[in-house]
Amino acid sequence: MKNERYRQLIEQEARHWGSVQPDPRNPQIWNDDRLFDIFFGKEYRHFLARIDAAGKDVLELGCGEGHLAVELARRGHKVAALDLSPERIQRAKQRAELHTLTHGATFNVGDLNIIDLPRQKFHCVVAHDALHHIYKLDHALDEAKNALKPGGRLIVIDYVGMSGMRKALAAALYALLLTYKPYTEKWALRNRLSTFLAPEAKKRNSLESGSTAGLHPESPFEEISQHSIIKKIRERFTIVEQFSFCPFWYYLAPKVRLPHAWRYQASKWLHEMDTELLSLGMTGAYFFIEAQKT
Ligand SMILES: C[S@@+](CC[C@H](N)C(=O)[O-])C[C@H]1O[C@@H](n2cnc3c(N)ncnc32)[C@H](O)[C@@H]1O
Repeated sequence: MKNERYRQLIEQEARHWGSVQPDPRNPQIWNDDRLFDIFFGKEYRHFLARIDAAGKDVLELGCGEGHLAVELARRGHKVAALDLSPERIQRAKQRAELHTLTHGATFNVGDLNIIDLPRQKFHCVVAHDALHHIYKLDHALDEAKNALKPGGRLIVIDYVGMSGMRKALAAALYALLLTYKPYTEKWALRNRLSTFLAPEAKKRNSLESGSTAGLHPESPFEEISQHSIIKKIRERFTIVEQFSFCPFWYYLAPKVRLPHAWRYQASKWLHEMDTELLSLGMTGAYFFIEAQKT
């Protein structure tokens, strides 16, 4: 991709992340603590425990508004965190100040596609729901590996998405069921279906050829590395542990409109259905990996 096009797109990406706000008509699991705990709680606690075991000095990639970095500082880690969006970094600093954890966590703006990281400095590099947005993932992972001390750990929770069939079924159920987004607005979303269904290869072709087919209109790098993250981590690191979770119902759970009293109970049932799908051999849309620098 030409430098000028990359510059325009990455600025657009940074603006998107700086301005994105919770939308009550399109609720997300991570904006609702109880829903997050039902679907991601067990895996997130495991993620934290493995980071605790990896050592004191931690680098977080794509830290967003600093939820994880502040939690890690609270647990006694020394955290350096970075993100593409200056607004998000500003909010992360405010969060750390609010928790009077400014010594344990430092925040900086940085683009993982081009960043140079310090050498052999960290016991652990972590990323939560961030790497699937990184266009030059080879570069970011090489830098992450170099930034680790010998034997250091890369610990990641990220998104690999659902298969095309599963996405089509999820979109059909979303269209049919009563959701927080009214039917009239959902009908307009049919124009976004090709973006929702586009695999990584199609998005990459569009970025290279100057097309917009399959790209998210506000976030051009959305899901750009979803299908290659695991492969690229495995190429560079020795895997200590890997598993996937949340294969299907996690997607619909926050969006379906239910009486408040039933919302969380119904979500627990949907989560149990997800657990059942995993036990039948279905791959989750999210994964956990702990990998070692050897
Ligand atoms: C889905 S959010 C996750 C944020 C945070 N890790 C969390 O779990 O709340 C993805 C984050 O990746 C950041 N990001 C996207 N592209 C990036 C890049 N090239 N370099 C650094 N951060 C990037 C975005 O600004 C955003 O904060």
